Amino acid sequence: MQLRSFRLSLRFVLPLALVLALFAYAAVPLMDSLTLRWFVRDLDIRSQFLARALEQPLLEYVPQKARRKITQLFDRAIQDERLYALAFCDAGGRVLYQTVTYPESLGCRTMPLKEGEHLSLVRLPQGAVHVAESPVSQDAEHLGKLILVHDMSFIERRSADTKKYVISLFGLLGVVISFIAVFIAHVSWRGWIRGVKGILSGDMLQPAKSTAPPEMLPVIGDLRSMLRDLHMERQGQDSLPQAWTPEKLRTLLHSELAGDQVIVVSNREPYIHEMTSGGIAVRRPASGLVTAVEAVMRACSGTWIAHGSGSADRDVVDRNDRVPVPPANPSYTLRRVWLTKEEEEGYYYGFANEGLWPLCHIAHVRPVFRSGDWDQYVQVNQRFADAVIKEARTDDPVVLVQDYHFALLPRMVREALPKATIITFWHIPWPNPESFGICPWREEILEGLLGSTILGFHTPFHRKNFLETVDRYLETRIESEASTISYGGKLTQVEHYPISIAWPEDAQTDGESAADCRIAIRQELGLGAEHLLGIGVDRLDYTKGIIERFQAVERMLERHPEMIGRFVFVQIAAPSRSSLDEYQNFEARVRNLAQRINRRFEDGSYRPIVLKAQHHDQDELQRYYCAADVCLVTSLHDGMNLVAKEFIAARNDEQGVLILSQFTGAARELHEALIVNPYHIEEGADALYRALSMPRVEQRERMRSMRALVKDFNVYRWAGRMLVDAARLRQRERVMTKIRSHSLASLRRVG
Ligand code: G6P
Repeated sequence: MQLRSFRLSLRFVLPLALVLALFAYAAVPLMDSLTLRWFVRDLDIRSQFLARALEQPLLEYVPQKARRKITQLFDRAIQDERLYALAFCDAGGRVLYQTVTYPESLGCRTMPLKEGEHLSLVRLPQGAVHVAESPVSQDAEHLGKLILVHDMSFIERRSADTKKYVISLFGLLGVVISFIAVFIAHVSWRGWIRGVKGILSGDMLQPAKSTAPPEMLPVIGDLRSMLRDLHMERQGQDSLPQAWTPEKLRTLLHSELAGDQVIVVSNREPYIHEMTSGGIAVRRPASGLVTAVEAVMRACSGTWIAHGSGSADRDVVDRNDRVPVPPANPSYTLRRVWLTKEEEEGYYYGFANEGLWPLCHIAHVRPVFRSGDWDQYVQVNQRFADAVIKEARTDDPVVLVQDYHFALLPRMVREALPKATIITFWHIPWPNPESFGICPWREEILEGLLGSTILGFHTPFHRKNFLETVDRYLETRIESEASTISYGGKLTQVEHYPISIAWPEDAQTDGESAADCRIAIRQELGLGAEHLLGIGVDRLDYTKGIIERFQAVERMLERHPEMIGRFVFVQIAAPSRSSLDEYQNFEARVRNLAQRINRRFEDGSYRPIVLKAQHHDQDELQRYYCAADVCLVTSLHDGMNLVAKEFIAARNDEQGVLILSQFTGAARELHEALIVNPYHIEEGADALYRALSMPRVEQRERMRSMRALVKDFNVYRWAGRMLVDAARLRQRERVMTKIRSHSLASLRRVG
């Protein structure tokens, strides 16, 4: 290695030495002529000065022809070591007085210059001299001129010295540069080699790992931006309209993740088996997460691990706790995990829903953190991680971890299956670092999530909050531009992937058209055909802004009394987490407010608010969506909110207006909705009135545009983009492994 770096240095040093030699060769004559010019100018000035000093005595002595005095004057003057000789010529050009040293050949110095001589420089047999002439005149009478001759031999001596110095200086410079070059080459050889290897293998392109030598950073920067462009291009291709269908997702899985197993983990299961008086019934839970992921799983046919929470769940599983689903037409496996009452209390109700849920939703409900809940949360995460490990048929499955119930699971799985591709999706908002800092186990939560290969959020804003939180509380390397976090030698890509719904293939109301639904639902509610209908569909959750929505209805009726008796608002509210105090209190507040408003505006059988606080299946919801004139989604904070998208998908008649809270992820995509601040009651009331009086043409324009967007940006695209990214990372990981084993093999051969 040393010999190689020495040879490399020589390749650099030899040309350098050559250039320096050429430079010295050209520089010496140049310096010679420069110094000569300086000296001549110096002697010109000096001669003028001396001539002025001698002029006065000469003006006195010359007319007197005082030879002795003039000779003495001249002899005294040439005692100056540089002044070599003096002479005085009369106006006729004859030398009258001179020192003995005055060279005869100079005469009165009117002789022509020889070629190559400087104006005042004369080369004599005894050496070079500087000759200057100065006229001596009195009262316009020209007496003659003084000729001053300076010795120039010292200049030649100095020039020879200068030559010596310049050559030695360049020589020394050459030696010093050579040493520095050899030293730097030697020291940075390893760094360069590591850098080049890193670039070739792709490591350095991951900004978080940039231990590259500084001189390589520009190259790495260029490569990185090229790769990012490529990535963006690929993402761009992914976003082609009409591109994402279940078939496309399936094809992608087979082509890009061929043979790879997909395992989903979520707390809520997609199908709940309940024991009823009529036998076992299957129920679909009210969960946007489940609705979205289920569509993906139908296309992917993997294994979904979830908490078996139904009263008949155990009755339908095999001895491995598995059941094929969907029950009518099985296409994937549901693997149930059983939780004890204590586990469910601590992990689900306690830590997840009394701690993390209010922590992440800024809805002014205080999070509660208890050590006992945390212990259960850790334990249950480990139990689900063990289930993933057990279900994995290979050492590198694709694991899709869902939501805030499993913040620790990604790291747990990563430790057991280092080659797994772990995609974690956080379905709820991520708060700012200060808010998140409230959590006593914030570091553990962050560390757990950073076990993921990809960590997804709905919006760029939540993604940014997460990066800032990690930056605040963990020692990591964050590359904001590339959106990666390097922690403990592992890289996590943090991205935003807005979730969506599966676009319905046809009219989804069992053949019932929007017009039929409109009439049917009004009849069921005891309303006339021309009654205006508003709808809200939520879990009974304090984050959904149900109270504010009712207040907006009340204010609208106050402001527009003509709407009393004409407008009815139906709130479908699925009971949720009802054993928690906060939820019980909330339900009571909702019921009381609905009652108060109804009492205020009731008229005969007319009630402005119809509260349906029970579970409704998807088909029933579709009928309400189709029947409504306006749908109100007024969450105080929501990761995405799929009700907004479901309402749009249901409206194949291109009618109906969506009122949407600005604090939902959906508001970032559905710009044609009437966007409101749910906290501002008058704003909500105005939006409601505007929606109810909106011309059909405007409704159509808005609805058509939103439908086109939701259709293209559907749930298959959401999953597809994550899987494409995962496939890319896996592919790279495999190539890297191959490169590593090849390099190892070649090293062994060489060794
Ligand atoms: C939110 C969460 C989901 C959850 C759903 C229903 O959408 O992000 O993870 O499944 O609420 O809540 P539940 O507690 O009934 O599962």
